[in-house]
Amino acid sequence: MIIQWYPGHMAKAKRVIGEQMKIIDVVIELRDARIPAASENPVLRELIQQKPRVLVLNKSDLADPVVSEAWKQRFETEGTECVLLDSKAKSSRQELTRRVMAAGRPILARWERRGLRARSLRTIILGIPNVGKSTLINTMARGYVAAIADRPGKTRGQQWVKIGKRLELMDTPGVLWPKFDDPKAARMLAATGAIVDEVFDAEEVVAGLLRYLSEHYPSALRQRYGEDIPSEEAPAMLQYIAQRRGCLLPGGMVDEEKARRIVLQDFRQGRFGRVSLESPEG
Ligand code: G4P
Repeated sequence: MIIQWYPGHMAKAKRVIGEQMKIIDVVIELRDARIPAASENPVLRELIQQKPRVLVLNKSDLADPVVSEAWKQRFETEGTECVLLDSKAKSSRQELTRRVMAAGRPILARWERRGLRARSLRTIILGIPNVGKSTLINTMARGYVAAIADRPGKTRGQQWVKIGKRLELMDTPGVLWPKFDDPKAARMLAATGAIVDEVFDAEEVVAGLLRYLSEHYPSALRQRYGEDIPSEEAPAMLQYIAQRRGCLLPGGMVDEEKARRIVLQDFRQGRFGRVSLESPEG
């Protein structure tokens, strides 16, 4: 889905989620495991206030496992329930359900003290575009077709998927805007595909990506494009890639734009292996 975020869209998203929060017990926040800081929505905490939250570092199958583990520890040290997931994997359902139930335990205990034993925890998936929200909803809902239609006192038209005995998941995710103001974060978001290609400067994004890979994952670059790839200057790396991949314009000039598209595709599809673009150390 292509969404261009303007102030009006942001205000609307804020309003809708603010309204939904009235009926939500536990929030599932999705971020991209390759960029756990850059893929945070700037106002999410303000929106969900003190609600219990499970932080999902999604697409962890594409991220560097050592770096992801360091992030997880950092978030857990800060007191946030954090889980590394691959939304496409069936096992994610059980893992996430367990975490959400754990985060909601104090609420369940409170209800029980008040004699409200029959209630289920209600949860929603929130995150920026392309982070895997729909994929995760599908994985969570697989095998649980029992959608619960409108009920009095709830947002009209809202469907819920009942997962197990005491958990309900809203069947549409909350879509939030990504960070635009921080140029470094915006470059990483563009590299992962969270910002649509039309709105960023591919030259800058790909140059940054190549420099980063050359510094942190040099053997992945060599394996993908060739042993002799230059190691420092992004333009030289791009020229090398263009030539190796036969990206040539009529007249023999290299087609840099095509080479940039190849690099972006390769990164987004995990062809450099498992790569993280941010580490908790900064
Ligand atoms: P959204 O609702 O947050 O916008 O994201 P969505 O689920 O549509 O997922 C965006 C893309 O990310 C999809 O790829 C999806 O398959 C992929 N994806 C989601 N979760 C994971 C994950 O944990 N690991 C990996 N490797 N990929 C994930 P696509 O190419 O746009 O679509 P498709 O061809 O895979 O269907």
